[in-house]
Amino acid sequence: VIDPSDPGFLADPYPTYAALRRAGPAVWHEETGQWLVARHRAVNAALRDRRLGRKFAPKEPRERFEPWNMVNEHSMLELEPPQHTRLRKLVAREFTPRRAEALRQRVRALADGLLDAVADANETDLIADFAEPFPVAVISELLGIPEADRHLLRPWSNAIVALYELRPAAGAAERAVAAAQEFGSYLRQLAAERRHRPGTDLFSALAVLSLQGDRLTENELVATAVLLLNAGHEASVNVIGNGVLALLRHPAEWDRVVTDPGLVPKATEEMIRYDTPLSLFQRTAFEDIDIGGQVIARGQRIGLLLGSANRDPEAFERPDTFDAGRGENPHVGFGAGIHFCLGAPLARVEAQEALRSLVRRFPRLSLAEEPAIRPTFQFRGYQSLRVRTQPLG
Ligand code: HEM
Repeated sequence: VIDPSDPGFLADPYPTYAALRRAGPAVWHEETGQWLVARHRAVNAALRDRRLGRKFAPKEPRERFEPWNMVNEHSMLELEPPQHTRLRKLVAREFTPRRAEALRQRVRALADGLLDAVADANETDLIADFAEPFPVAVISELLGIPEADRHLLRPWSNAIVALYELRPAAGAAERAVAAAQEFGSYLRQLAAERRHRPGTDLFSALAVLSLQGDRLTENELVATAVLLLNAGHEASVNVIGNGVLALLRHPAEWDRVVTDPGLVPKATEEMIRYDTPLSLFQRTAFEDIDIGGQVIARGQRIGLLLGSANRDPEAFERPDTFDAGRGENPHVGFGAGIHFCLGAPLARVEAQEALRSLVRRFPRLSLAEEPAIRPTFQFRGYQSLRVRTQPLG
């Protein structure tokens, strides 16, 4: 059974996932009051099933959680059509594969710039020095967040998403509310400046649009920007961290990519599959439904275990093997259906350019110490990843 407070489970959830897949199509999790769905076929179908959907439950008491509730209840991630469709359409244009491709050179330059800064050190923390600042820089450029303010984003984001955890840590609520409050005020002030003097960035365009409240209200503007900025790096940080770690633990696979950088696109999909950074997303049943013979009653919640689906032997050959050249890879790391990751094309370009720059510059990269996993379940990632950029001696 899933116990997010068990360090053994967090360190290696995969045996528990395998047991859950064997236990049945949906297994009741008493502690969090939801059905857990662990098999690939069922997770994939549930993500696309319109009888299931997002239902935001504001945190109580409302007065205390107001800033946190605000950024979530107006976020497309938490909404269903028609609001979801309207909000997603407003920004979807910016996140097409073609737009992501147009950004590739710039993304590569950002990756190279960060790696230049650590090139002379024999040892570096790939999380703090690379995996964190890199996607933050990419999404900030797209939204037009001034460089001097970017250091604020990751702490705000971390604090806000900590409340999504199945069992939030002590003090997480206060930190999340304070972060939502500060982030919201910051964006409202930036919106006022951008309306006055718009730039060519996405946030300026949305800020101007929100002057006509019928298309985008100010609350929706703030919630959308928070979502893009948070979603735009939380997962990418951990794709790079978890993925590079997986490669370094499979040195033959790392060497394959070094020798044949043409494998980079496949290797990055495998990084997302093998140690999926977003473990679980929830849905609520809008009517009674049947999952592989298990009836889920209307109103009940379902937890879809993406990390488990991505290791299901029914969907993947040798699922517990990291294969940098894996051909068929129908992973659900980006979700599926109407909430399919809006940023997937950009996230792919980012992960590919991160890996490409790393293998080119540091072909002999190796682990300097065993990394410690962060004590969170939904967001799976490491505290730090100390690596040697040059061979010893
Ligand atoms: C490799 C990194 C990433 C992974 C693994 C990832 C994964 C996901 C997943 C699983 C969902 C679906 C959630 C659900 O079904 O409830 C999602 C939604 C979303 N992602 Fe990503 N994401 C990544 C990067 C990004 C980036 C770079 C952006 C940039 C903007 C982004 C923006 C979004 C947004 C806006 C949604 C909500 C879409 C909607 O509700 O319609 N993501 N992401």
